[in-house]
Amino acid sequence: MNYTKPLIAPSLLAANPLCLMDEIRTVEAAGADLLHIDVMDGHYVPNLTFGPHMVKEIKRVTALPLDVHLMVTEPARVAPWFIDAGADWVSFHPEIEPHPYRLLQYIQSCGVKAGVVLNPGSHWQLVEPLLPVLDFVLLMTVNPGFGGQSFISGVDSKIAPLLLLKPNLLIEIDGGVSAKNAQHLIKQNAHILVAGSSIFGQKTGTALESNSMADYRQAIDTLRGK
Ligand code: DX5
Ligand code: ZN
Repeated sequence: MNYTKPLIAPSLLAANPLCLMDEIRTVEAAGADLLHIDVMDGHYVPNLTFGPHMVKEIKRVTALPLDVHLMVTEPARVAPWFIDAGADWVSFHPEIEPHPYRLLQYIQSCGVKAGVVLNPGSHWQLVEPLLPVLDFVLLMTVNPGFGGQSFISGVDSKIAPLLLLKPNLLIEIDGGVSAKNAQHLIKQNAHILVAGSSIFGQKTGTALESNSMADYRQAIDTLRGK
């Protein structure tokens, strides 16, 4: 994967669940680089979303790498389920996991990219001891749990100190990413932009009509700064 250009990861949370396969294929044809899949267990965050069975089926219909963001109280228990289902990138919230270093080692030992997620209220120094076993850090620019929230500015100030400590660390930004802030984030050296509403919200038809590839391509190109 080429990390010198910004990568765009559409978040399936904002896709139409009743025609998910069509949504995935359309966004893939429109130039997406990764698919972001939010796993929520109703405990760590007040919402329920995708399970491993769904991830396994998604894997069968796309060639895009699957970026699985675990918002669950027991990431070490569920990470193997999602890795078996075909996750290529796995991240979890380190505050909730008693042995984050061990879990990152495990994820990497499966040949999967390992990341931790920093909530808007978490200091970047939380990840410093984990840097030797981290491939990426996911910086939340909303409070986790729901799509369509407003971007919390200032979080991007965590990017520079992290890259100073580990220059080859990949930085992913998640929450409220749109044309309004994408270029600023790319200038701050963010490598991957997750975007739910600002891509899937571009639909011009009614909910059950098939989506327009042109709409998605335009949204993705705009985020990338093309
Ligand atoms: C929120 C999720 C995000 C969400 C982003 O907890 O982690 O991935 O889908 O959606 P938007 O881009 O709509 O803020
Ligand atoms: Zn997410």
